[in-house]
Amino acid sequence: MNTLAPDSPAILAESLTKTYGSGNTEVVALRDVTLRVLRGEVVALLGPSGAGKSTLLTAIGLINPPTSGRIHIGGHLVLDGPRPAVDLRAFRRKHLGFVFQRANLIPFLSALENVQVALEINDVPPRAARKRARELLDYLGVGDRARHLPDALSGGQQQRVAVARALANEPGLILADEPTAALDSHRGRQVMELFAKVARERHAAVLVVTHDHRALDVFDRTVEMEDGRLRDSASSTGPCDEPKGPPQRLDAGAGLGSP
Ligand SMILES: Nc1ncnc2c1ncn2[C@@H]1O[C@H](COP(=O)(O)OP(=O)(O)OP(=O)(O)O)[C@@H](O)[C@H]1O
Ligand SMILES: [Mg+2]
Repeated sequence: MNTLAPDSPAILAESLTKTYGSGNTEVVALRDVTLRVLRGEVVALLGPSGAGKSTLLTAIGLINPPTSGRIHIGGHLVLDGPRPAVDLRAFRRKHLGFVFQRANLIPFLSALENVQVALEINDVPPRAARKRARELLDYLGVGDRARHLPDALSGGQQQRVAVARALANEPGLILADEPTAALDSHRGRQVMELFAKVARERHAAVLVVTHDHRALDVFDRTVEMEDGRLRDSASSTGPCDEPKGPPQRLDAGAGLGSP
């Protein structure tokens, strides 16, 4: 991948539409959705059930392509309607990190090994992968649980390991779909704070679908969806879109930079 312009947004989704099914069963899940998220920004995506939040997140995550519209990530056109403009699998593996509602850890691997595998599938040699996995678990405050199997961890600890796994390859963009739904409010808040920390320290962009209004102060910005649209009041794409912190430069840790 080419080096990117420092000012290119982490996400630029332009006029996305998504229609599931056809005829009687047709559901329009996205209606002309435009969203821009800058590097270093932590954005919450809110809205009622069925509004299209997961559809938007999985479209941007290159899992569930839109019917029309374009998606640019880190300044690269990646999807033009449903047509891939890059090798989506490779791009996803290298540049995107996902966290879901449940940690989905591999049950027969330790916390450390769960993170390590994510690195090894990106061709990091085992020793280096192990070292990095350990550093990440320490960074997320679960280093002392590295050897435990997921079953022996609390929900909050499992979710931290899942966050470590999502960060393993230093993605420039982290996408999370209700990552705190299974946690109590204290643990949930800690996970949200971790996202903010990652965005700040690693210049990654983070887009989080959440129903949890108790931790919204952690975010730079909220965007609301309703019936497949972004609500105008919250979905600015103009100058007031700037994050609270200082402007973020692309740096080596951003993961959307050089090949
Ligand atoms: N695979 C699918 N096939 C058909 N319709 C779908 C599919 N996935 C989602 N939909 C429909 O698209 C609309 C948006 O769904 P989506 O899952 O994006 O909503 P959501 O905002 O994430 O809701 P929730 O908060 O309940 O998770 C809904 O009407 C849903 O029924
Ligand atoms: Mg959803």
